[in-house]
Amino acid sequence: MLRILPKIRYNGIRHYSKLPPKVSTLAKFDFPLATHTVQSINSDLDNYLNKQQTKITLNGHINRKSRIRPTLGFGFLRDTNGDEIQLLATPDHTNSSIFELMKKLTVEDSVSVTGFIQQKESKSDGNDTQAVELELVVEDFQILNSSNLEAAQLDKLKHNDPSQIPPQFRYLQLRTPYYQKALRLRSQTAQLVRETFIKNHGFTEIETPLLFKSTPEGAREFLVPTRAFNKFYALPQSPQQYKQILMSSGFTRYFQIAKCFRDEDLRSDRQPEFTQIDLEMSYINNSDQVGVVVEDIIHNVWNKVAKKPTYKVNKNGYLEEINHDQPNKLQFEKLNYIDALTKYGIDKPDLRSNLSFTSLESYFTAQENKDFPVLEICILKQAFDPATTKKFKIPKTFTDDHNFPSRRPYVWAVNGPQDVTSWYKKLLDANIISTTSSFDESKLLAELNLEPGDVFAVSTRSKFPYENPTPLGKFRQLAVQEYPHRWQRPIVTEDGSLIDDYNYNDMVVGSWVVNFPLFNPIEIKSDEDKDSKYPQYDYTKYESTHHPFTMAKIEDYELLESDPLKVRGEHYDLVINGVEVGGGSRRIHDPALQQYIFEEILKISNFQDLFGHLLKALSMGCPPHAGLALGFDRLCAMLIGSSSIRDTIAFPKNQSGVDPVVESPTGVSEKALNEYYITTKQ
Ligand code: AMO
Repeated sequence: MLRILPKIRYNGIRHYSKLPPKVSTLAKFDFPLATHTVQSINSDLDNYLNKQQTKITLNGHINRKSRIRPTLGFGFLRDTNGDEIQLLATPDHTNSSIFELMKKLTVEDSVSVTGFIQQKESKSDGNDTQAVELELVVEDFQILNSSNLEAAQLDKLKHNDPSQIPPQFRYLQLRTPYYQKALRLRSQTAQLVRETFIKNHGFTEIETPLLFKSTPEGAREFLVPTRAFNKFYALPQSPQQYKQILMSSGFTRYFQIAKCFRDEDLRSDRQPEFTQIDLEMSYINNSDQVGVVVEDIIHNVWNKVAKKPTYKVNKNGYLEEINHDQPNKLQFEKLNYIDALTKYGIDKPDLRSNLSFTSLESYFTAQENKDFPVLEICILKQAFDPATTKKFKIPKTFTDDHNFPSRRPYVWAVNGPQDVTSWYKKLLDANIISTTSSFDESKLLAELNLEPGDVFAVSTRSKFPYENPTPLGKFRQLAVQEYPHRWQRPIVTEDGSLIDDYNYNDMVVGSWVVNFPLFNPIEIKSDEDKDSKYPQYDYTKYESTHHPFTMAKIEDYELLESDPLKVRGEHYDLVINGVEVGGGSRRIHDPALQQYIFEEILKISNFQDLFGHLLKALSMGCPPHAGLALGFDRLCAMLIGSSSIRDTIAFPKNQSGVDPVVESPTGVSEKALNEYYITTKQ
């Protein structure tokens, strides 16, 4: 949507060649401290209402200017909690010099006001159930710092849609209630997380260095030059290696709310600089012991900060509220990677929806690409009313190239009985699919039970899907957005009744995704194949699905030698409402096995240079250990119901990685570059 932003006349910082005048400048430093907040007044109204002798000082910003009555009224103060109160000047109580000051007032001026509280004159019909509206009668008033003109020009946006305030004025945005709430909630969450770790589980908070070493851990890293020739630090992608070294250092339960840095493509759920709640535990023999701690944090945060219960998918496929009668047992259900991919087409399914796929493998084989033979279907049951819709128009979002950069699924609507069979006849005629030897048309029709009103999508995948999401997985995500509150997974209540008309956005549904492949084949991305509808893999070269320190499933150990792609990892992802909130694993603490994986499987020839420090730490009696990291920004965004982590970060980077407030990154002088032995080329 095109929005017209106001043109900002920049009257920024004036050039001052003289020391600013002493009296007026120093007056800004001399002011009374606040005695109250709007909230504290409201909570003890009897003590303050119409008590002229009880002096109240409030500090804050001018939230709006108003003229309730030509000579008297003047505006609203937003106190340091973000709560608003009307300010009233009256000739009886307010000094005339203050009236003069008020004329100069601009919105967003920082002020200190002293006076007394009275009930606002009500224009209402005398309905006494209304809350008492208060005003502060001003007796003393001081402008502590005037605001620039920009704030006044942006005032409409501030009240109507603060997210549209230009990002270079982030501080004005942050003053508004939504952002104040978001950052205060983030702080409250951090405090609760610390308490849960320390009080409930005996963890120690330990900081690890931010000046780390360049080692491959998945994403591209940020390098930090030094004044020694060709010596660089790298900013950590996560504290992974240091926390494993801490396990070798005798700390059995570590946590940290840690800054991490990844130079990757930015999206609404990714920042180059972000925060993790990071933990590691030693002498544990089952990853569920990590899961129990993590769940305690999750349930606590949602119950205490967001005041919402958490839900799991139970054995019958219904949502069930989590009760906390077994604190040492995992509550969220475990979902196998392969089941997630084949039922929902993604490793982070939103389980509030019960849309799932049916494989058509026993009826058809897809012919377009031999590595992608499986045909599957996702049916949106009764997406439209056939009685009132003659020919249903497929929503554009389902066929948009932008949503499907590789291949698009085939999407059809069942407008009449002919559409129940015509779709596969078309695909067969076009040689896109062929029938299998077990093809049984009546069985197929009975299994799908397509009816007028249904919309369905058909697509292909490989037998073991590395593509993630698959095209049908993307379709499912879009269907959930296009038709909110449809095909919701029912909640089962204690008495066994089912509810499916709940508010989607109020639900918090978690699951553990487990049994990921430990390695992926490396995707080939040549220029020739860039328009290919199918990803291509080199099945002889492997990369870690998560990171190279994850242990293999014990029962798959021998496959490490014979067939690494078949090895499942001891990895677990925590997924809530379709968002990967965290990931972790049991680690390899045996240095010989870790070295084998670096050298023989991942073919990292310089592994000693890159990871020698870790191998050394493992080889000095490092105990068995496991851990996990939660994306703190993602967690906070979910708690405030936002899809963008930027809302919960005080100074986020924009899509190009720029901090619009300080305008970083910037160039540096030739002299500085020389000091770091850096030459730049265009
Ligand atoms: P992983 O890479 O899965 O694991 O990261 C853990 C969690 O961090 C969040 N996250 C991000 N949040 C915002 N912006 C980003 N660019 C970003 N990247 C990741 C996600 C993710 O689930 N060391 C391992 C953890 C471990 O094995 O203990 C790690 O970093 O919510």
